[in-house]
Amino acid sequence: MILVTGGAGYIGSHTVVALAEAGYKTLILDNFSNSHPAVLDRLERISGTRPNFVEGDIRDGDLLDSIFKQYSITAVMHFAGLKSVSESVSKPLEYHANNVLGTLNLLAAMQRAELFTFIFSSSATVYGDPDSVPVKEESPRSTTNPYGRSKLIMEDILDDLHRAEAKWNIARLRYFNPVGAHESGLIGEDPQGIPNNLMPYVNQVAIGHREKLSIFGGDYPTVDGTGVRDYIHVMDLAEGHVSTLDYLLKSGGMLTANLGTGRAYSVLEMVKAFEVASMRSVKYEIVSRRSGDIAECWADPSHAEKVLGWKTRRGLDQMCADSWRWQQRNPEGYQ
Ligand code: NAD
Ligand code: WQD
Repeated sequence: MILVTGGAGYIGSHTVVALAEAGYKTLILDNFSNSHPAVLDRLERISGTRPNFVEGDIRDGDLLDSIFKQYSITAVMHFAGLKSVSESVSKPLEYHANNVLGTLNLLAAMQRAELFTFIFSSSATVYGDPDSVPVKEESPRSTTNPYGRSKLIMEDILDDLHRAEAKWNIARLRYFNPVGAHESGLIGEDPQGIPNNLMPYVNQVAIGHREKLSIFGGDYPTVDGTGVRDYIHVMDLAEGHVSTLDYLLKSGGMLTANLGTGRAYSVLEMVKAFEVASMRSVKYEIVSRRSGDIAECWADPSHAEKVLGWKTRRGLDQMCADSWRWQQRNPEGYQ
């Protein structure tokens, strides 16, 4: 059985579906700080079986010990954590307590249980403002905010751990910009309050919850002046986790990999593609740059392709169509 921390959240829930498809049993541990219990019903509807679930916090060591005693866990996929860059600037202690201390607590409990296979959600944010694109795993790392620092710190600690004890099998997966939803329209991204990320915001404009999209910056040195990113369908990302798990269980060791498509799209290109997929128009206005944003970032995913035999399969049209299906069928999210 695979322990999926944060498995009720956006990426974790889609990964639970991909794991079930690949024949793995899962146990979700989540404190619902950024998710909703209804996701469990939806996962059951998609996969035909209900994932095992424990409500609780990764910072609760006794709870982790009891989980590792009660269930026969073979590996841990660790999605639980806080993810808003802007919130991290105003709440650094909360971010480091969840993302760093929480992860250390989980690793210590795994060590007590003699369980040594761990997949960590890192982020393209560790590349900071890259000197050149596409970024490779060896590209320089940097950050300007506490969220990014929490990922950098954990990447380094995992490196220390593997150097000290080679029995640990660790993957540090650097996600680019996950978008889209499961094709059933039953699970998807459900941001609380005003969305920080582009595609949830675009969806909320299209459905009529928000008046218009503010495009942050039209004067970047990019194809059309707007920011450029590597958007990856969340189900491709989820399948990347299954490939990583298969790889770690077979070959072990330490893996660091970019999970992106290698394709770059501007904000305006995303809006246009979404308008075509949804057959709605998305009102927008170009405003000043968002502090901390970079002009462009996209992945060189060739290492993941080579080592894992994994490749993204879903293009931009499907990313937009699937996110719109989720939005239309769940205009208020899971509520
Ligand atoms: P999410 O907020 O949708 O999911 C995280 C889940 O973890 C939520 O269900 C939340 O309730 C749970 N959680 C948070 N703190 C917890 C704790 N202390 N104990 C137990 N459960 C807790 O986020 P997501 O988009 O699915 O991201 C998953 C992981 O991927 C995060 O670590 C995030 O930093 C990383 N990541 C996300 C993105 C992105 O753009 N979504 C990009 C790169 C990396
Ligand atoms: C994408 C583009 C914005 C919203 C963030 C985190 C990163 C990772 C993924 C976790 C940019 C523009 C956005 C809006 C806009 N998360 N935009 N109007 O900033 O690339 O990455 O999420 O690890 O760490 O920093 O993603 O979706 O916020 O922005 O114009 O209302 O859309 O300026 O060019 P970002 P995003």
